[in-house]
Amino acid sequence: MRIGVLGCGNVGAAFVQLVASQADAIEARTGIRLEVTRVAVRNLSRDRDVNLPEGVLTRDSHALVDDPAVDLVVEVIGGIEPARELISAAISKGKPVVTANKELLANVGHELWALSDARGVDLLFEAAVAGGIPLIRPLRESLRGEPVTRVMGIVNGTTNFILTKMTEEGAEYSVALAEAQRLGFAERDPTADVEGFDAGAKAAIIASIAFGARVVAGDVYHEGISNITAADIAVARRLGYVVKLLAIAEQERGADTVAVRVHPAMVPIDHPLASVRESYNAVFVEGEAVGSLMFYGRGAGGFPTASAVLGDVIDAAVNLCRGTHGEIGSFQRVPVLPIDETSSQYLIGLDVEDKPGVLHAITGVFAENGVSIRAAEQEGIGADARLVFITHGARESAVQECVRRLRDLPVVRRTSGLLRVIGE
Ligand SMILES: NC(=O)c1ccc[n+]([C@@H]2O[C@H](COP(=O)([O-])OP(=O)(O)OC[C@H]3O[C@@H](n4cnc5c(N)ncnc54)[C@H](OP(=O)(O)O)[C@@H]3O)[C@@H](O)[C@H]2O)c1
Repeated sequence: MRIGVLGCGNVGAAFVQLVASQADAIEARTGIRLEVTRVAVRNLSRDRDVNLPEGVLTRDSHALVDDPAVDLVVEVIGGIEPARELISAAISKGKPVVTANKELLANVGHELWALSDARGVDLLFEAAVAGGIPLIRPLRESLRGEPVTRVMGIVNGTTNFILTKMTEEGAEYSVALAEAQRLGFAERDPTADVEGFDAGAKAAIIASIAFGARVVAGDVYHEGISNITAADIAVARRLGYVVKLLAIAEQERGADTVAVRVHPAMVPIDHPLASVRESYNAVFVEGEAVGSLMFYGRGAGGFPTASAVLGDVIDAAVNLCRGTHGEIGSFQRVPVLPIDETSSQYLIGLDVEDKPGVLHAITGVFAENGVSIRAAEQEGIGADARLVFITHGARESAVQECVRRLRDLPVVRRTSGLLRVIGE
């Protein structure tokens, strides 16, 4: 099986090394010899972490796809173009494609999956959502008969690293971000990670696969972690929670809508997701019959991601040899619930005046907006008085209106720390 690899960066170079080291074992198990015959890059003179025989490296990625000496294409360039064009060309030529490209799939995945189904060619993407953690195949195959109701995950290692530092060392956001950048866990421009774009793209793919719904990145509400303070995290800890950036995809049984969102949330300390530290990722899947499952591991990094790419390459190679292919199935056009119509529990912090009647005025606003209080406590006294409320499940729109009204109360000096809470 002659493989053409588009891109030789973190993932591509690790993939080429894995093929070299595993080819004998894979051949012994499957009877198929994998060989990387072409590798396309942008810059031929760049030093690579991998030794490639003379003539393998090229700048002409279109020629790689067209090359009759390439049977199967791995796309690890990233971005939408030219990845989309190259993948479409490979599939049209009947060549299976394996990709790790979340941005591409979250935006034009449905077009490419439709093309691969129509052409009867594999387009596999296990590495695109959670790097080395198997998630797509379990959702597509093992859980095929399962009415999945919710998939909730920590799918961005950069933000989980930052939140871990803030939780365990009491660091402020900017300090934890600087450390993540120094250690190579965050990019110099961290926007895609810290503002939730990366997790939003992954949430779109997860929702598409879990619910057979046509969800794209633009449908996903996302909030990042850059407004989270060490004080928010300290309050959450004291109440028995840790703060995590979660990607959540939900579909109630029988509902004709899906809810897909990314935001920081307070997770009960005894929930399995609460113990996921540093740059690790984990995805928690809930189904009616199977109950709760958790998939945990390295959600990024060259070798973990290349391991998932290699698993897909072996599957696609075996299918090609047998003249068969996996089917992704159809995706329904399902409305995505606007964030205003979703429900959650919330933590609301209020800096207030410490005098008689304050609690009465505030709870009156909660009641008028139909938001029921599950727990409340006062921290500090006098000028430092602060009230913290945790609500029962309530509609986002009602909670936002409640917070707006609370801000207008003369006894409320400041609202702070509005955080969603994952139920027990
Ligand atoms: N890194 C991870 O941990 C991780 C995890 C999960 C998924 N992914 C996904 O895997 C993909 C690759 O990520 P990466 O971290 O390996 O990226 P990277 O280190 O930036 O490597 C990208 C590679 O693509 C090459 N390239 C860029 N444009 C090209 C073009 N037009 N034609 C041919 N080659 C081109 C680059 O060539 P030069 O080397 O010459 O510049 C480079 O070798 C992305 O879709 C990413 O989202 C990455």
